[in-house]
Amino acid sequence: MLALVARATARPCGLLKQMPLNKITGRFQLHQEALPHLPVPPLQQTLDRYLLALQPIISPEELSHTQQLVAEFRKPGGVGERLQKGLERRAKKTENWLSDWWLKTAYLEYRLPVVVHSSPGVVLPKQDFLDRQGQLRFAAKLIEGILDFKTMIDNETLPVEYMGGKPLCMNQYYQILSSCRIPGPKRDSIVNYAKGKKQSRHITVVHNFQFFELDVYNSDGSPLTADQLFIQLEKIWNTSLQTNKEPIGILTTNHRNSWAKAYNNLLKDKTNKESVRAIEKSICTVCLDAPMPRVSDDIYKSRVAAQMLHGGGSRLNSGNRWFDKTLQFIVAEDGSCGLVYEHAPSEGPPIVALLDHVVEFTKKPETGKSPTVHLPMPKKLRFNITPEIKNDIEKAKQNLNIMVEDLDIKVMVFHQFGKGFPKSEKISPDAFIQLALQLAYYRMYSRACATYESASLRMFRLGRTDTIRSTSVDSLKFVQSMDSPDKSDQEKADLLRRATQAHREYTDMAIRGNAIDRHLLGLKLQAIEDLVSMPELFMDTAYAVAMHFNLSTSQVPAKTDCVMCFGPVVPDGYGVCYNPMEEHINFAISAFNSCADTNAARMAHYLEKALLDMRILLQAAPKSKL
Ligand code: COA
Repeated sequence: MLALVARATARPCGLLKQMPLNKITGRFQLHQEALPHLPVPPLQQTLDRYLLALQPIISPEELSHTQQLVAEFRKPGGVGERLQKGLERRAKKTENWLSDWWLKTAYLEYRLPVVVHSSPGVVLPKQDFLDRQGQLRFAAKLIEGILDFKTMIDNETLPVEYMGGKPLCMNQYYQILSSCRIPGPKRDSIVNYAKGKKQSRHITVVHNFQFFELDVYNSDGSPLTADQLFIQLEKIWNTSLQTNKEPIGILTTNHRNSWAKAYNNLLKDKTNKESVRAIEKSICTVCLDAPMPRVSDDIYKSRVAAQMLHGGGSRLNSGNRWFDKTLQFIVAEDGSCGLVYEHAPSEGPPIVALLDHVVEFTKKPETGKSPTVHLPMPKKLRFNITPEIKNDIEKAKQNLNIMVEDLDIKVMVFHQFGKGFPKSEKISPDAFIQLALQLAYYRMYSRACATYESASLRMFRLGRTDTIRSTSVDSLKFVQSMDSPDKSDQEKADLLRRATQAHREYTDMAIRGNAIDRHLLGLKLQAIEDLVSMPELFMDTAYAVAMHFNLSTSQVPAKTDCVMCFGPVVPDGYGVCYNPMEEHINFAISAFNSCADTNAARMAHYLEKALLDMRILLQAAPKSKL
């Protein structure tokens, strides 16, 4: 059955080859049903691996304490076994024992603002237009490309992706268009209008903080052409020449509890409610931004990354967004472009696959003539601002501006080599980059830290991610040896190779559903659900250290020469995202200015040096039998 639907040849995650497929209703469901269920890893295996993962990041005394707690937890007939059985029962009853829990824990119940703390951005290469005409032409073509991709989703003709020869879950693709997050007092929710009678037919366009509903289909159901879209965008532009005094979109940048309160208040007014619903229901948002302040070339990309993540503050483009919207494409008058997306429905790779498609589409010449029908004026979405709403906007502005000031972000294009070099050394490029991050961190802080790298669980039905713990006993041995005069180059190179192999082994274990992080989370949530007292294992300092990810990292590969970026997940940490291309690597590194110990540019500097030193080392010391 799977062979019928999974026709693409094996290719890595994130790379989509577009093939003309005919519409077959139910194709997606058939594919999904043939995917395996996420396993619950064996309890003893996870506990052994947990102790191993702690070794490089905690003291021997702490480790010995945790060993006792683990020994208690794993006893035959003990609490560990009871919780494990609960998880196994859950796995039998559900499509995926983890996905609902993960969605709630990682996203919908997370109360910090989505801006910086959760929503990733993508920086696209600068487009070569310099004025409004160019901006609108490009935006029109981009929208046409989005609609082209949407047709594949609607017709269920999206080619199945593969990783390591295994077909991947395609569900996230069906969640990224026509959806929106809704704030709630304790937990948010997501709405989706991709299917059925209420299927969306419009996008939201924002210009000068003013929102418009733009219908993107002709009456015969065909999508508007780029020429038609251009005309519509011009109409929008010409009716929104003045910046709106009340940037209503700023409300979406707030702490989720405050936003939930403000949302209820906002929607008491019928006009406001209709406007908000129109935004929520739309296919996506297209933000026509004012130009960014001019900066020198060396910091340009870092500034664009900040624009994508937060919009630059209440006086720049932050009011030109609705941050709860799953997908927001950003096109500024000066040619800076990219997107920001709300993370709950999807990981980066499907978003970037869509972007790759759209970017390729924008390069195509116009084909065919546009119908000459008169198109109605796009509808302006109006808001009645009461004093209370105005007050909420002011508070949100203040908080946002603090966040904007606090974000330290550096985009680094590492030009000296790309993934070709580690491959030529028979090393996994991802493992090589992760080891470089370990070395950079160790050189800066003389210690190793808990490190998170996202691993895809999409080999399983409704799979999201698990964690590759890049800090290992082997990585620590390597980074400690690197600057040691007592070790020869050959020994150091052998330690580096061994550490990259260990990283690749962890990756393989993670993508096959056998990593430890989601399993430990599952056991903890099972304890909460069973109302048993929280096992000491989860109250232990070592557990808190293991979950305090000073390095939160992710590879998001793309065909386009772009880079995804996101904020750190702890106050004293770094967020590092990278796109390894064949000849160069794009990195986006973030930190918080409020932390005196972190500095994104400094980390970029150490990372660059680590990558170069590791190349020199491997070239100087030939591969020996490990
Ligand atoms: N020798 C030579 N080549 C090697 C090699 C080796 N030892 N190991 C790997 N390679 C090659 C691979 O074949 C691949 O080749 P390609 O460029 O032709 O495709 C390339 O190097 C990349 O492999 P690698 O660097 O090992 O990474 P990967 O593609 O297997 O990706 C993860 C690893 C962890 C990033 C991936 O499994 C994953 O889970 N991705 C999803 C992450 C995610 O969801 N992020 C978003 C969070 S928002």
